[in-house]
Amino acid sequence: MSETNAEPHIFVVLGGTGDLMHRKLLPALYRLATQGLFHEQSLILGCARNAELNDASFRTLAREALGKAGFPARDTAGNWCDQCLYYQTIGKGGPEEYRTLAARIAELEQKHNLPGNRVFYLALPPAALPSIVHGFGEAGLHHSAGWTRLIIEKPFGHDLSSAQELNRLVHERFTEPQVYRIDHYLGKETVQNLLVFRFANPIFETLWNRDRVENVQITVAEELGIEDRGGYYEQSGVLRDMVQNHLTQLLTLVAMEVPGTFQADAIRNEKVKVLNSVLPLGPEDAVFGQYTQGKVAGKHVPGYRQESRVAPDTPVPTFAALKLSVSNWRWQGVPFYLRTGKRMPRRLTQIVVTFRCPPVSIFQPTDSYLIHSNVLVITIQPEEGFDLYFEVKAPGQTITLERHSLDFHYGDVFAKLPDAYVTLLRDILVGDQTLFVRSDEVEAAWGLYRPFLEASPQPHAYEAGTWGPPAADGLLEKDGHEWFPL
Ligand code: BG6
Repeated sequence: MSETNAEPHIFVVLGGTGDLMHRKLLPALYRLATQGLFHEQSLILGCARNAELNDASFRTLAREALGKAGFPARDTAGNWCDQCLYYQTIGKGGPEEYRTLAARIAELEQKHNLPGNRVFYLALPPAALPSIVHGFGEAGLHHSAGWTRLIIEKPFGHDLSSAQELNRLVHERFTEPQVYRIDHYLGKETVQNLLVFRFANPIFETLWNRDRVENVQITVAEELGIEDRGGYYEQSGVLRDMVQNHLTQLLTLVAMEVPGTFQADAIRNEKVKVLNSVLPLGPEDAVFGQYTQGKVAGKHVPGYRQESRVAPDTPVPTFAALKLSVSNWRWQGVPFYLRTGKRMPRRLTQIVVTFRCPPVSIFQPTDSYLIHSNVLVITIQPEEGFDLYFEVKAPGQTITLERHSLDFHYGDVFAKLPDAYVTLLRDILVGDQTLFVRSDEVEAAWGLYRPFLEASPQPHAYEAGTWGPPAADGLLEKDGHEWFPL
């Protein structure tokens, strides 16, 4: 969220040959460089196990990755790779290898006259993190002449106790202001805009509470299945992959109180308060699903159990619908329904705020019309914008009501929105933690879903290409509500 230019530094990526590096980090860093936001003196040091790679072959891989991301590899992007990129193997990650890494960093800093500012980006699965954080500490990598920032990708831990343990380990060597826990949803322009929408437009503030809001629905629907990530997904499932992080972050931004200032900790304090106000969840508050074969976007797709590296009888859910109750003065009695799934009919991330109907209506419903609630639909992706639905009188002699909308769509007004990683990396480089998850926040989020993580409930089957199992409708029907049509 910050506009300041970054200082010269070395950007070290562990997992430097991985998918995230090639698809997201490198293109984002290059984009920042072209915008003058990645200091021209700065370097990138990719680290991975592969002992065969060297600076030259690493640069070749990087050029290919930038080429795939739409930057012609032979022009300035290629020169940038030659000037900025280095490679260092960390082999099996023993103490000797971390000492070698520390020596290589010091050598590069000296050669390029860098002041000792360091970013360590851990683009690795959670199981690898404890030994890396420990290895860093032993090699003294948490100290430098300048600043040091540690970036940790989601998921942060596997459950509450592993997240607590990882936080403990990280805090042995790094202070919280040095740690940036990534949830890429927070980097999305329209997610950040939730704060502006709520806190720069007071007309909504007076409506944003239990007196006016009937229920809130947060849906993150994906057309994609698990792609080639069966091994990862079997360990994670929908709760760890999407709910504990992305959906919970959206919930906190919708439900939080106005912070005292627009500072990272003021905002994060309010988000944590929301999480701490959520009532404990029970089995009646959740429905899980798992996709079976079906058709998505006109193409036949296999079921989850037929995907590669997935057990044929796996109970891992790919869909979840949950009801959360935020028990505070603002939201007491207002259900927040969260829903996400893979292999749904289309990609859509949407927050739907349904307002209460008039207490008494002078327009009696008849067969020809019903009275609808006012509804605010905030679309996070793909067609970012807002639609506010309200009733109008259809022309004619009788009073017939129709639902119509006022709308605003980003695409009509603004050019292409920035990629979430560009935003997040820029904030890391300038030391702005607003869009990163704090240690107490990540733990509170894990704590919410503990009953389901421990019990592994059986999922309902749903056909790929549908909006999830019918039981997910029942979750709302018992409260007299229904999902807003997508
Ligand atoms: C990732 C999950 O964090 O988010 C993926 O691991 C999911 O399973 C992805 O597909 C969704 O992100 P986006 O930005 O495409 O909505």
